[in-house]
Amino acid sequence: FQVIDFNKKLKSWYLKNHRPLLWRQTTDPYKIWLSEIILQQTRVAQGTPYYEKFLHHYPTVFDLASADERDVLRLWQGLGYYSRARNMHFTARQIVNEYEGKFPETAAELSRLKGLGNYTAAAIASFAFGEAVAAIDGNVYRVMSRIFGIQSDMLSNEGKKEFAALAKELVSREDPATYNQAMIEFGAIQCVPVSPDCSVCPFNDICFAYEFKMQNQLPVKAKK
Ligand code: ADE
Repeated sequence: FQVIDFNKKLKSWYLKNHRPLLWRQTTDPYKIWLSEIILQQTRVAQGTPYYEKFLHHYPTVFDLASADERDVLRLWQGLGYYSRARNMHFTARQIVNEYEGKFPETAAELSRLKGLGNYTAAAIASFAFGEAVAAIDGNVYRVMSRIFGIQSDMLSNEGKKEFAALAKELVSREDPATYNQAMIEFGAIQCVPVSPDCSVCPFNDICFAYEFKMQNQLPVKAKK
């Protein structure tokens, strides 16, 4: 396979099939950050009203930084994993106090902030600032393992390195934002965890898992 062909196919699949989600219509790093934090542990349908409500109350990082933590937590009620909200509040203050309210623009710098892992940092850096870094979440692990036949444990350090190396090759230098959204969306609505409909998949001609009927065995997640 060729990376260029893969990217072309992925992008054209995305342009035809993606959902018009609110956070895809902005390049504001604050809004993208919020959406990615919510979506870490919450489904799109449940998370979207919270995203809107949160931005209504705190439209900018300055508003969030000057908020009372109890009010922030109250807005988060029903979403669970409250450390997400506490970390966002903490980090909003840091961004205001140490960065004059401007988000760092690279994944390397973003990932040093509290509550931002490699995934969230890469998502913000690519969606808001166009940095060519791959954002690898659970969806993306699944897509890469199936199509390219990566059978190492996605939860092990070795495995993570292997996935990261492939992702680095795949990520589009021309349009990393669309590439990352497309990989996430492809995993979310086409290459789904259980019983994907491979008959309509644009990659069924090159997909390892499809060829060997291993869709349900990939990705490998060893029990800890
Ligand atoms: N899950 C995590 N990030 C997402 C995004 N940007 N769009 C849709 N689902 C997601």
